[in-house]
Formats: sequence, structure tokens, C-alpha cells
Amino acid sequence: MLTGKRILLMIGDAPGASAAPEAIRHLRAAGAEVIPFPLPGALVYVTPAALAERAARAVVEGPQGVDADLTLGFAVGPALADLAPERGPRLIVGAPGSDLPELADLAELCIAALAADEGPLAGRHVLVTSGPTHEPIDPVRYIANRSSGAQGTAIARALVAQGAQVTFVTGPAAVPPPTGVRLVRVETAIQMRDAVEAALPADAAVFAAAVADWRVAQAATSKMKKDGSGRLPQLSFTENPDILAAVAQRSVGRPRLVIGFAAETDDVLAHATAKRLRKGCDWIVANDVSPGTGIMGGRENAVTLITAAGAETWPRMGKDQVAERLATRIAEALR
Ligand code: C5P
Repeated sequence: MLTGKRILLMIGDAPGASAAPEAIRHLRAAGAEVIPFPLPGALVYVTPAALAERAARAVVEGPQGVDADLTLGFAVGPALADLAPERGPRLIVGAPGSDLPELADLAELCIAALAADEGPLAGRHVLVTSGPTHEPIDPVRYIANRSSGAQGTAIARALVAQGAQVTFVTGPAAVPPPTGVRLVRVETAIQMRDAVEAALPADAAVFAAAVADWRVAQAATSKMKKDGSGRLPQLSFTENPDILAAVAQRSVGRPRLVIGFAAETDDVLAHATAKRLRKGCDWIVANDVSPGTGIMGGRENAVTLITAAGAETWPRMGKDQVAERLATRIAEALR
């Protein structure tokens, strides 16, 4: 991940500085070489010896002469930003009084900061939808589906790692959202559509969300109650907008590359191929979500990528690997 990268870690005079050794551990675990640069004020919270031990090298007393790929300011005060060397990408995480990001996210933030400068998707804006939607029945009840958001989240993460600026529009997912994205949380399909439209223009759009096809025509405004009569509630439905189709069929402001998903339980290839044409998107990532496959909500996926050129079946692999492969293909297509 960060193999071969040299990170200058500037440590400021904030209480968060005491977490610096742990940060060094995470960054080194990701393969980076870390050069600790504590400011005098940091020494209240952390000793040079502790930093040097974790970094397996001596601390430096200034940025001069340090040839770093990334400067990471940890628990940084405003003045510290002025001290950072001019060269190389910079990333300031956390300032006194603000929450420091989860240490485990640090490596990911670093990868994103490096990629934003030099990744194959640097300078590209990619929109990703993810997760299920919740369609209200009344203020306390809703209709949902089993999408965990795992595949969409992995795709957003892989795009960020390749340098894309990602807008991540997500329904209520079971997995936490990725770091380094512009996060837009929604609940319903209508809200997702509005968020997607607001996020355009984009160079590419990946519609990984499992959008509910229908919503309750008239959601009750107060909680529906059992009245003892034995009468059952009747729900009537109306169709949700097809977000993917609407974006794919735009005559103005259509992303250059529009990618849809097809979660099918039978005749996957035929249905997905027809779907690509019907929706007007460029690619369809098709998968078999029959109960036996363990794909929906699981860690692995077996997909077929359908493009104008035909169908390409990828071997079963982790959702992270599917995401990386797809991100690489997107970068190639946008080159
Ligand atoms: O028609 P179907 O729901 O199978 O199509 C799946 C694809 O369409 C997915 O990419 C999904 O994100 C997208 N979709 C959408 N809006 C809908 C329904 C599906 O964007 N209302």
C-alpha cells in the first residue's frame, strides 16, 4: 500500500501528539518509512525515544534536507503548517481541539493524499451510489433490502486510492463509509436521486446502490396503529425514479462513463446484457445474488463485466479486489 513511500510526520504541541507512536505503527504496517519530526512543544506529550523506537530510525529536528513523498501533520497547530516543506503532497490531520481521525484510517488517508497527486484518476470526479434505500411506511416503519453497501464502499475506496475525487451517495448501509470521500447520506430513492443530480458533473458514475424499485404511495404521517378490529393495513406502491437510467440517458451533462449493477438470481448474463441497453449505461457489473452464493452481505463477489464489446467473467474474488479491478478499468477508460 505505502511500500517505498517516505512520510515526514510532523508532530505538533497538541494532546493528540501522544498518539504519534501508534500512528507510526500503522503507517509502517502499511509499508511506509516514517521520519518523525517532533516540534519542541510536542515533547510534553511524547518523547523522541518513543518516536525513534517505533519508527526504527532517529527523529529529525527540521524538514530541511528530508526527501519525503508526503508530509503528514499530526495534531498540528496552525503555525506548524508553515514549517512543512514546500515539496511533495501535504496532509494535515487533526488540529488541537478537533477529533483526530481513527489511527487505522491514517494509512488510508495517506494513500489517498499520495494518489490525489499522482494516481491514474487524479483530477477526476467519480460519483458512487451505495447501500440500500429505506422507503417509509409511516414515521417508524420502512421497507428495505439486504444490501450491505460493502461493494459500493469498496469501489469508492479503490477509486480514492487511485486519486479520484469521489462523491459517495449512500443509503443506510451496514458497513462504515470510506474515508477521503465527499459523503452524502440519504435514506430514500428520491433523496438519492436528488443527491446524485446535485453531485453532477462527474467524469464517471458508478451506481452500486440497491435502490428500492417501489415506495409506499402515501406514507402515513403518524404511526399506524393496531385498533383491535383485526383489519389489516393495505399498502399501495408507486415506482421510484430509476436514477441510473436517468443519468445514463441525459443528453446534457452525462458522465463519460456510466456503470450500473445487475443483481440477478437467474439467467444473469441475458438479463444483464438486456439491462445495459435498456438503461443506456456503458457497463453493467452483473452478479448472481441467489441465496446459495452468499454474495449479498458477504465478503466475496463473482461478477461479469458487460460492455459494448461483450461479456467478461471475472473469477470469484473479494469485494475489495473486484473494486480495485473495476477502478483500474475506469482509470483506463477515462485516460
Ligand atoms: O433495474 P435494476 O434495479 O436491476 O438495475 C440495477 C441498477 O440500476 C443498479 O446499478 C442500481 O444502482 C440502479 N438503479 C437505480 N435506481 C433505481 C433502480 C436501480 O439507480 N430506481
